[in-house]
Amino acid sequence: MAIISSKKQPHESGDKQPKQRRESAKTSPEENILQPKAAIDEQGKQEESIRPQRFADYIGQKDLKDVLEIAIKAAQSRGEVLDHLLLYGPPGLGKTTMAMILAAEMGVNYKITSAPALERPRDIVGLLVNLKPGDVLFIDEIHRLSRMSEEILYPAMEDYRLDITIGKGSSARTRSIPLAKFTLVGATTRVGALTSPLRDRFGLVQKLRFYEVEELSLIVQRSAELLNTVITEDGAKEIARRSRGTPRIANRLLKRVRDYAEVKSFDQVCENVAAEALKLFQVDPCGLDWTDRRMLTVIIEQFNGGPVGLETIAAATGEDTQTIEEVYEPYLMQIGYLSRTPRGRVATTAAYKHMGFKPPNEQLSLL
Ligand SMILES: Nc1ncnc2c1ncn2[C@@H]1O[C@H](COP(=O)(O)OP(=O)(O)OP(=O)(O)O)[C@@H](O)[C@H]1O
Ligand SMILES: [Mg+2]
Repeated sequence: MAIISSKKQPHESGDKQPKQRRESAKTSPEENILQPKAAIDEQGKQEESIRPQRFADYIGQKDLKDVLEIAIKAAQSRGEVLDHLLLYGPPGLGKTTMAMILAAEMGVNYKITSAPALERPRDIVGLLVNLKPGDVLFIDEIHRLSRMSEEILYPAMEDYRLDITIGKGSSARTRSIPLAKFTLVGATTRVGALTSPLRDRFGLVQKLRFYEVEELSLIVQRSAELLNTVITEDGAKEIARRSRGTPRIANRLLKRVRDYAEVKSFDQVCENVAAEALKLFQVDPCGLDWTDRRMLTVIIEQFNGGPVGLETIAAATGEDTQTIEEVYEPYLMQIGYLSRTPRGRVATTAAYKHMGFKPPNEQLSLL
């Protein structure tokens, strides 16, 4: 196993964040807890110790597991490598984990990298020529691949061949180098941003969906066991409900609750302990964070519930449109608080109620 660059660049997102957002972070302590993207300190040993290693430990995502189990069995029985696989979905749902599991189930090695680390063509060439037969090459944030790297990937994916040009001008010659047959697993939070030639070269394109409370509750119980924390079923459910359908957040909340229980000398985490702790950390009962709440409040208060354009929401929250589309909206739509119409975003009756406003149809009936 070789990890080339699984770490996110710490400055990358930070520097790009608008000022307003950074300031608001100070006044909203819950914001970081509920951020589905990995924090810098979340890539250490403890994180790896709770990451599922085999299919059997990977909870939920039944459709994805069914498809992949069949693909693995078919590939193994034919003695072939697994088809290239593209995994997409919001952050923290288990894309990297699934890539590692695939390699483990196929009994092969994996290499992990991310597109921003492959800016120069020679980075990707170096990786490809060192692959052994059957290896899994995992490229995170694949939508950010440079044009040149992407073009190197096309023949590599299609024919396991590397086309390189030697020399310049009239003396330039193209040489083809055969590569070992490998499986490329690409992960992205923005499938729409992939070029179609790249997307078309993946034999399997699979979406990861948000997890149900019951599934997250099992994930919390499993992680608690690995962290030697005693938790009741209700305690796990309480954490699961506030985790935005995301295992990464569920595990993070579990750790906060565990700290709280330890400091307060509770010998187990029951529903009350979990609720008290999460209240202390100001985690909303539905897992909404400052930006979600601000989005809904702006739509309801300033635009009578919508429709409101994405740009307007972005300006009001100090978030960029891309993060709103990739991170915030999918969850708000999943829990039925937001709907998307051709004219813009609309807050639903459930959102009005959650935010403590009277829904418009009830207001009318009072007149
Ligand atoms: N199905 C699952 N069952 C149990 N735990 C899971 C599952 N999926 C993810 N996790 C846990 O959630 C954490 C985050 O998962 P992972 O790193 O795979 O997310 P990701 O989709 O790659 O996120 P990103 O888009 O930020 O790279 C992992 O450390 C793992 O412990
Ligand atoms: Mg990942």
